Amino acid sequence: MSDFHRFDVIVVGAGGAGLMAARYAAHNPNVSVAVITKLYPTRSHTGAAQGGVGAALGNISEDHPEWHAFDTVKGGDYLTDQDVAEVFAHEVIEAVYELEHMGLPFSRLPNGKIAQRKFGGHTREHGKAAVERACYAADRTGHMILQTLYQQSIKDDVRFFNEFHVLDLIIEDGVCLGVVAYELATGELHTIHAKATIIATGGNGRMFKVTSNAHALTGDLMSIAWRRGIPIEDPEFYQFHPTGLYKIGVLLTEGARGEGGILRNSEGERFMERYAPTIKDLAPRDMVARAMANEVREGRGCGPNKDYVLLDLTHLEPAHIDAKLPDITEFARTYLGVEPYTEPVPVYPTAHYAMGGIPTDVEARVLRNNTDVVKGLFAAGEVACVSVHGANRLGTNSLLDINVFGKRAGIAAAEHAATADFVPLPEAPEAAVVDQLEDIRSRSGGERVAELRAELQQTMDSNAQVFRTAESLTQALDDIRSLRARYADVHVQDKSRQFNLDLLEAVELGFLIDLAEVVVTGALAREESRGGHYREDFPERDDAKFMRHTMAYRRGDEITLDYKPVVVTRYEPMERKY
Ligand code: FUM
Repeated sequence: MSDFHRFDVIVVGAGGAGLMAARYAAHNPNVSVAVITKLYPTRSHTGAAQGGVGAALGNISEDHPEWHAFDTVKGGDYLTDQDVAEVFAHEVIEAVYELEHMGLPFSRLPNGKIAQRKFGGHTREHGKAAVERACYAADRTGHMILQTLYQQSIKDDVRFFNEFHVLDLIIEDGVCLGVVAYELATGELHTIHAKATIIATGGNGRMFKVTSNAHALTGDLMSIAWRRGIPIEDPEFYQFHPTGLYKIGVLLTEGARGEGGILRNSEGERFMERYAPTIKDLAPRDMVARAMANEVREGRGCGPNKDYVLLDLTHLEPAHIDAKLPDITEFARTYLGVEPYTEPVPVYPTAHYAMGGIPTDVEARVLRNNTDVVKGLFAAGEVACVSVHGANRLGTNSLLDINVFGKRAGIAAAEHAATADFVPLPEAPEAAVVDQLEDIRSRSGGERVAELRAELQQTMDSNAQVFRTAESLTQALDDIRSLRARYADVHVQDKSRQFNLDLLEAVELGFLIDLAEVVVTGALAREESRGGHYREDFPERDDAKFMRHTMAYRRGDEITLDYKPVVVTRYEPMERKY
């Protein structure tokens, strides 16, 4: 038996996308709204986003949404659906002003307008030069968005279930009826019946060892949706952010390069001049990350093991650094003992963002194949794939995504709920979760979660990172499959009900294994290089064969791949040079 609740609209996840969705759903007077989140809302990972939200406000130099849409398409290596990029680049302008009016403390120009800075791949006139498009609050933009939206959600009377882990989606005959959640404090299960469910649970970066993602980012709802028959779109496209703190992976914003920071190799060379002569250090992330890894491979890495490069801010005034980059410079001091005023900071690419995810249409409705929706189910933010980031997301476009598509999800879900009836639940909707948890709790003698997770992360870092080959990916797939077999016996020491994180980590590991297998399967099949997916054995982009989205499906224990076309409106694919 589980506790029972009923709301018109429920949102799973309380990051930027979830809170934006909840607010907009709550603005519809005819619907009740609840957010279910495994964290306290202001601890959500949106809070770790640093550098800015991209919007063509033109506060410093001329800019246009059309230039932004073009950059998004080119940055995505032409896998971006161009109709979506156009919606995205236009609607974000209103979204940024809305955030400003909600009270978000943006950094300001001397004339009082929202400050903007340069960011990777954002250009004027289709690539002529870098443009200031990122609207920022120092290097705490995501943190400020999260705080602002949480305050507004409280004002809007959204009900919060904090520290509730959603462990199942209830889907019957192609209709989503709600979720089953586990309450961390008590170990009780809760069935939450809803007319509309919005998934906004962020990413799955914890499948990698070196990652900018917080511990909670284990892909829960992406995996649960997958187990319930929903495909995953473009799983192979995973982004490695160039400037992770060496070995640790903690993010150092691209805004540091937007403020004038320079990447250097062991010879002190500004090596990005060779790879992207026009915009240099502000090339898109996939290119910068590959260039860094290449410098290391070719022996121009720094340090005793020659395995990192340097982010040099030493030519910037300390007062400028303090005003624009206070958090990341503190991270360098705290974690690496480096003083960025006077010393360059060791950096290396860090697993950062899933471009793929649960497929949605532009109204954030979840698709169960190339055309049909799952009634009553919506998704937004990193967990979703509305096909706007293509093969490589531009920096700042994730904060844009959560605002634009979070809002669209909230509006669409509320409209659906206002006219739909509650569909009766099946008998004992919590039964599958009860069985799953009891099965794990009852085991003894198997391996521990941490050991298996470390092996998963190791193989993903070694074999499915910036450079990939058929051989490395096959190795990863073999490793993941053997981990899946061992996972069947994984055991937990803590058998208690209250605050049992041991148990939840075991469940989360299952999600990560699922998703890692999908990522690697998609990557193995895509025999070309595009955006964040670089195959050394197929180094060219192959538009004739692969300018199409991957759609991965779970069929029993097998993964099958299908494809769907990319939407092209006005930008003909061309070679990506910067
Ligand atoms: O570099 C950054 O500040 C990260 C931003 C993003 O992922 O969009």
